Amino acid sequence: MKIEDKRILVTGAAGFIGSNITSKLIELGAEVIGVDNLFNGSLDNLENVLEHKNFKFKKGDIRDLNFLLEIFEDIDIIYHEAAFTSVPQSILMPESCNDVNVNGTLNILNAARKMDVEKIIFASSSSVYGDSPELPKREDMNCLPISPYGVSKMTGEAYMQVYYQIYGLKTVSLRYFNVFGPRQKDSTYSGVIAIWLGRLINNKNLIIFGNGEQSRDFTYVEDVIQTNILAVEHNIKGEILNIAAGSPIKLTDLAKLILKLTNREDLKITYTDPRPGDILHSFGDISKAKKIINYQPKYTQEEGLREYFTWHSQKYKIDLQIS
Ligand SMILES: NC(=O)c1ccc[n+]([C@@H]2O[C@H](COP(=O)([O-])OP(=O)(O)OC[C@H]3O[C@@H](n4cnc5c(N)ncnc54)[C@H](O)[C@@H]3O)[C@@H](O)[C@H]2O)c1
Repeated sequence: MKIEDKRILVTGAAGFIGSNITSKLIELGAEVIGVDNLFNGSLDNLENVLEHKNFKFKKGDIRDLNFLLEIFEDIDIIYHEAAFTSVPQSILMPESCNDVNVNGTLNILNAARKMDVEKIIFASSSSVYGDSPELPKREDMNCLPISPYGVSKMTGEAYMQVYYQIYGLKTVSLRYFNVFGPRQKDSTYSGVIAIWLGRLINNKNLIIFGNGEQSRDFTYVEDVIQTNILAVEHNIKGEILNIAAGSPIKLTDLAKLILKLTNREDLKITYTDPRPGDILHSFGDISKAKKIINYQPKYTQEEGLREYFTWHSQKYKIDLQIS
């Protein structure tokens, strides 16, 4: 399937990953409709495409089925990125998380069925695995999520599978593992790399929840975009794929690497209590994605960090001394 001939809807288009996917699709020549309620996203993330002839932005909520039915006309493909995205917030507000991630996702599926959409690529998460000890995580392992967010993503995936099996709607779920890169927000509920970048710019020590021995398979956003394109170009359906770098790093080592890359070894790494819902180790087996969509991660974590910090210093005119 050729992306450039398609009319594509991206939910969560004003968010971190959705805006990066949108930019890539426009660059490839596709027509894109971006949907977002701006709960966590910002139009600033779409500034490079807002005026483009192939792009339209529709402000609205995926929980509103009538809104979706109005805008779903002639859509070929959906990238479903919109979500209640924070694990700690999902613990404070499980109903809201469920409402957006489960009911909202079901709305997307129902609207897609009704409007004859060809394919849906769903942004799932490594959080579905929970804290089972076996590593690396393979797609055929049992899911035992330990947060409402993880439960909501597992349910979204299950609906994707069922809508393929029962109604023949082509769906693919991509289980992203800790994504980082340009446009990631620096707020209490963001990914740790964006938070640490914000702290070091403000001359603050880097804080780790727990003893720093926990590990994550940080994945540069360009590799995530690559897999989203490949998942459409390849004729796959009803599949679940891990999307990771395939190389975990301990949080303490990551913090040290960031301080070294930015020549900020004057700052300290401090440790505080672990947070509920946080997984101890996360490491994705990516052999299935390599095999069925020919995924080859292009960025090591260090390369991704350099790209991200360079982008950040140019965008915000901050002289990060990247070595
Ligand atoms: N960033 C990661 O490390 C990571 C890891 C695993 C999975 N994911 C998944 O990838 C997707 C994108 O995540 P992100 O990091 O870009 O997060 P993000 O918060 O930057 O983007 C999500 C977007 O969805 C929008 N949104 C929220 N509720 C909505 C609603 N009811 N209707 C319409 N729009 C709504 C937000 O305003 C935001 O722009 C999400 O589904 C997330 O769960 C992200």
